[in-house]
Amino acid sequence: MQLKGKVALVTGAGAGVGRGIAQALAEAGAAVLVTDVDRAAAERVAAELRDRGARAVAFRFDVRDPQEAEAACAAAVNELGGLDIAVANAGSTARMPFLETSLTFFEEIIKLNLTGTFITCQAAARNMIARGVPGRIITISSNSGRFGGRGRAAYSASKAGIIALTQTMAIELAPFGILVNCVAPGPIRTEKVTSERPSEAFTCRMALPRFGEPIEVGRAVVFLASDACSFTTGHTLGVDGGLTVTGIMEG
Ligand SMILES: NC(=O)c1ccc[n+]([C@@H]2O[C@H](COP(=O)([O-])OP(=O)(O)OC[C@H]3O[C@@H](n4cnc5c(N)ncnc54)[C@H](O)[C@@H]3O)[C@@H](O)[C@H]2O)c1
Repeated sequence: MQLKGKVALVTGAGAGVGRGIAQALAEAGAAVLVTDVDRAAAERVAAELRDRGARAVAFRFDVRDPQEAEAACAAAVNELGGLDIAVANAGSTARMPFLETSLTFFEEIIKLNLTGTFITCQAAARNMIARGVPGRIITISSNSGRFGGRGRAAYSASKAGIIALTQTMAIELAPFGILVNCVAPGPIRTEKVTSERPSEAFTCRMALPRFGEPIEVGRAVVFLASDACSFTTGHTLGVDGGLTVTGIMEG
């Protein structure tokens, strides 16, 4: 699963899951354009990767803006020499009960998580096609994109939309040699997590009852971005400790 000579763009890579994805891609040998709406955060992560010997450049990119998406793809080509892998990770995990969800909140989550993924993937695909690159596009959904959960009306809808979007992109981009897959993480230990274990609401349904680490999501992304993945497209790969496959756990 070597990515030497490949260039990857990761959105929302200044923290959390995106940072783990950027680390894993760099470990596998890719040069990484570390993008985030928070420029300072992107710069910190790019510096961390360079300290470990990787090629990494920071770039400010708000995934809600199609012009910034084009500029980010161009920056990957101009500053790192190409664009072979795009990972649409940026998103908000904010939750609110359905009956209290305002239209503003709902639309903000859909715009960041789902529209932002569409904008990122479309710009990356157009860039790859224009340069004749049979690239890889990886989206980030969630276990919440596969089933409902309390407080997740907007979040689940956005993450289920990403799974459907991935499937359609896989069909339409296959003629260009571009494979499109999705990773659906379960509870992941990001910088925001303060507890040792996920809550009982999660662990009672998990075959592996612990937090996943951001780098574990990143290594699944590395597989989907590598030549080891050659006949899989449109797939959603759970990195969730078995959360989405469990049913009755006792008896
Ligand atoms: N943390 C989890 O347990 C978990 C589980 C399943 C899925 N996910 C998914 O992983 C992704 C990242 O989540 P996280 O927990 O790491 O979040 P996080 O809040 O820790 O990090 C999100 C990053 O995205 C950036 N960002 C926010 N708005 C942006 C924008 N408009 N444009 C570009 N960047 C922006 C932030 O600055 C931040 O660096 C999300 O898509 C989330 O749905 C996370």
